[in-house]
Amino acid sequence: MARKKTAARGISPARLVREEERYLMNTYRRPPVVFTHGRGCRLYDSQGREYLDFLAGIAVNALGHAHPRMVRVIRREAGRATHISNLFHNPYQAPLARKLAEWSGLNRVFFANSGSEAVEGALKLARAFAHAKAASGGAPKTRFLALENSFHGRTFGALSITHTAKYREPFAPLVPGVEFVRFNDVADLEAKFDSSVCAVIIEPVQGEGGVHPVSAEFWERARALSVQHGAALIADEIQSGLGRTGWKFAYQRFGSLPDIVTVAKPLASGLPLGAFIAREEFAAALHPGLHGSTFGGGPLICAAALEFLTVVEEDGLLDAVRARGAELRSGLVKLAGRFDFIREVRGEGLILGVDLAVEGAPFVQEALRRGLLINCTHEHVLRLLPPFIIRPRDIAEFLGKFERVLAGAARSAKKSPTPASAAQTAPPAARAAAR
Ligand SMILES: Cc1ncc(COP(=O)(O)O)c(C=O)c1O
Repeated sequence: MARKKTAARGISPARLVREEERYLMNTYRRPPVVFTHGRGCRLYDSQGREYLDFLAGIAVNALGHAHPRMVRVIRREAGRATHISNLFHNPYQAPLARKLAEWSGLNRVFFANSGSEAVEGALKLARAFAHAKAASGGAPKTRFLALENSFHGRTFGALSITHTAKYREPFAPLVPGVEFVRFNDVADLEAKFDSSVCAVIIEPVQGEGGVHPVSAEFWERARALSVQHGAALIADEIQSGLGRTGWKFAYQRFGSLPDIVTVAKPLASGLPLGAFIAREEFAAALHPGLHGSTFGGGPLICAAALEFLTVVEEDGLLDAVRARGAELRSGLVKLAGRFDFIREVRGEGLILGVDLAVEGAPFVQEALRRGLLINCTHEHVLRLLPPFIIRPRDIAEFLGKFERVLAGAARSAKKSPTPASAAQTAPPAARAAAR
């Protein structure tokens, strides 16, 4: 692993870890590495070691680390006004909202602080819309449909529509009226949809659930049923959106639009910003006082987000994501031919999952040891989320090191205790679509 002289900052990782254990709530399992800074798609730790970052802060650092244009805008705005409050206008909310409306094909935006909060807002908007309709004579609509294997966040509303039992059950009872539909199973969707449904929420590519793309057939049926029953179709694009699949939004590979879409992760290039964007008809259900946020949409963060979207456009990063994604996928498919414990390579653009027949954790540890940052989701899916600025030579370097990781960790990895991923429990047609 390469060592750079620049990074040693006199930080003792062992001491920091001990202090964290003493003072932080026990919510994260972390390796004993302290990262001090990054540049492009590389991160450096307190010992001066260099790592190739194929995780990008879990799909956040789409422009890598310390991108010069982001640094410039953040410095400039930090010297002006970081926060003003939503009691007043600031110069950046309107141009950012306009760009998000143009990118998404929808009409109006609300700014929040995280993905979970964007999801909360989207659920509230769907309920407000349903109540407004009921008030003018429609049937009451309160139910939410979400998908098996979904992940929408950790706040109570977002958790209530998140499927994974280990996240939900310790906090029961959750928000009532939620039902889960089998992944990509059109018949199950049809059976559960009726006029009491207020919204159906779909990740066009499930991220935390193990990188499973939703099929066009499922999406279009959800669209048609939402129209038929007057429900909202919500796309959760917090992980898949804003360029990660090579599309501005992953639903753009289908024919039809959602009514509401949530975004967060890469939006402000590492600063915390979430948003939900809605069609005019739905947005009209909100009026002053019905929803709000102290921090959401401050000037510094909105200026940063505007710069991020502009860089994606000006630097042709959607094309780059498609091209690099294809290179990475084809390298991974070749590796799958060599290592029989790789069950499947799936995903789109630069959100790719390597589904293993063995547990994934030893591979993540081995990757870290060899200077690669990746992670594992759903116990056995290695998830790759590199920055959009990744170059062909970074992909080649990654594939070379990843091959050694696969060879090295295979010996210590136990057979996966949870072999059935969503795509494998879905009907055959849906499985084919998920590839
Ligand atoms: C699809 C999706 N929705 C919602 C969330 C929650 O976002 P946050 O962690 O910013 O609250 C995530 C986070 O991983 C996500 O992937």
